[in-house]
Amino acid sequence: MQANQPFKLAVLVSGNGSNLQAIIDYVEAGEIHASIACVISNIPDAYALTRAAKHGIPAIIHEGCRFTNRREYDRSLVEILKSHEVELVVLAGFMRILTEVMIDAFQQRIINIHPALLPAFPGLNAQQQALDYGVRFSGCTVHFVDHGTDTGPIILQAVVPVMQDDTVDQLSQRILKEEHKLFPQAIKLLVDHKISLHGRRVLLEH
Ligand code: GAR
Repeated sequence: MQANQPFKLAVLVSGNGSNLQAIIDYVEAGEIHASIACVISNIPDAYALTRAAKHGIPAIIHEGCRFTNRREYDRSLVEILKSHEVELVVLAGFMRILTEVMIDAFQQRIINIHPALLPAFPGLNAQQQALDYGVRFSGCTVHFVDHGTDTGPIILQAVVPVMQDDTVDQLSQRILKEEHKLFPQAIKLLVDHKISLHGRRVLLEH
């Protein structure tokens, strides 16, 4: 990265893109010294693509069905990201598991947000898992992506209470509200080089 040039991010999405919107808002407000080089979705009609287009950000559809396997998909994804000179890959509700092709190409430069307090409730339907288990608190986690599913070093977490009569939707909304603050905060720390990794432990410089 060149000195004083804004850090180049790619945001990968599959759905509504409310986290993408939060990141766009922080970047546009000058709170994060970065530019969003592209938004990539594996789902053609994801609303996140519309959000990107509204803000003049290149919105790219990259569908899984065009590839014979996940590694081929990732090879092509790496090419797209490199062609946009992306420095940090942000998974914001991107519902695909990445292979070693992507992980090795962007080592410690891929981060994900997960709607639970990892290592509890990894994988799909984290909010439903939390309700079924009966926990009193859940929340969200921003972590580096490694070769496992939701197993990478934890950067930040936020906690929310679980109410007795919560539906999945109510709990998801409560968690999302925290996600929209936590994810930009983690990106800002990375962009400002205020994060260092020591084994599994992530040290923050405030
Ligand atoms: C968010 O809750 C995010 O944590 C979750 O998908 C939602 C995307 O919402 N991600 C995962 O479950 C990844 N395993 P958004 O499209 O409105 O940002």
